[in-house]
Amino acid sequence: MRDLTGKTAFVTGGASGIGLALGQAFAAAGMNVMLADIEPEALTAAVETIRLITPNVRGVTCDVADPAGVEHAAQAAFAAFGKVHIVCNNAGVGGGSGIDTIALDTWRWVLDVNLMGVVHGISSFLPHIRGHGEGGQIVNTASMAGMNSGLGFSPYSASKFAVVNISEGLFTQLKPLGIGVTVLCPGFVRTRISDSARNRPSRYGKPHIPDPATAAGQLAAHLAERGRSGIDPAAVAAQVLAAIRAGELYVFTHAGPEWRAEVQDRFSAILAAMDQAAQRQPPPA
Ligand code: NAI
Repeated sequence: MRDLTGKTAFVTGGASGIGLALGQAFAAAGMNVMLADIEPEALTAAVETIRLITPNVRGVTCDVADPAGVEHAAQAAFAAFGKVHIVCNNAGVGGGSGIDTIALDTWRWVLDVNLMGVVHGISSFLPHIRGHGEGGQIVNTASMAGMNSGLGFSPYSASKFAVVNISEGLFTQLKPLGIGVTVLCPGFVRTRISDSARNRPSRYGKPHIPDPATAAGQLAAHLAERGRSGIDPAAVAAQVLAAIRAGELYVFTHAGPEWRAEVQDRFSAILAAMDQAAQRQPPPA
């Protein structure tokens, strides 16, 4: 999508961090903006910051884990602005470090928000974008955790691997329809992600705070520290807008040697295992 002016963007997790920065960047590009978030007060404050850029901004409270909630938010966006062109399935939560100590409720919460939230966004908006025929872009927020392994946050990584996979498949499927797909894979960004438990609904039980003396607790503290010195969300949003305009699938915010090595090691191990399998098997007749 080259020309964004006068078009509409819908952003989940829009009250904070990367989502708010995306909303601000879309507004600065002349777009109408609908922010959706589970946190009503932060959402109101976020809408006010964007109103400094454009009057064409609204907010809607929505839990992306709930398909009816996402559908309600989509209808609110259609009612406010008519057509929606860019959908950012960005809301996400971090949680669940350890190996055999991760509560099933934590698995469900993280997958419901990070994976099913993306699925719900696609279900509610894709028929609309196909229907209006003006083209559009689906932007799914994954993570470098969807590219490498062994981070130690299994529910989070599983959700992000799945989001990368869904996005890659959709990219190919939607290209002939003039609808783009971008998957955002950030490294560390300075946001409130390490305080995700603030948004854990009570139906998933109490958050499990890992003991700081354990490996799981130390990993959580390490990741929170890396996040505090992460990059500015505005820089991430600028990269996303550039990718939308250029029709690019992947956005990597961190591409230095440390990050490349993790991806390379994973694919090298996979290809080496395939080489080994090919040597062991007789060639097909
Ligand atoms: P953040 O915590 O600052 O923002 C997340 C937003 O999502 C918050 O406004 C929160 O209220 C909202 N949210 C949480 N649960 C929700 C739900 N069920 N329904 C609707 N909204 C909900 O964190 P950040 O970092 O801006 O997170 C945005 C995305 O970026 C997430 O998908 C996260 O996994 C991803 N990400 C973040 C990285 C980082 O270092 N901050 C790195 C890689 C990916």
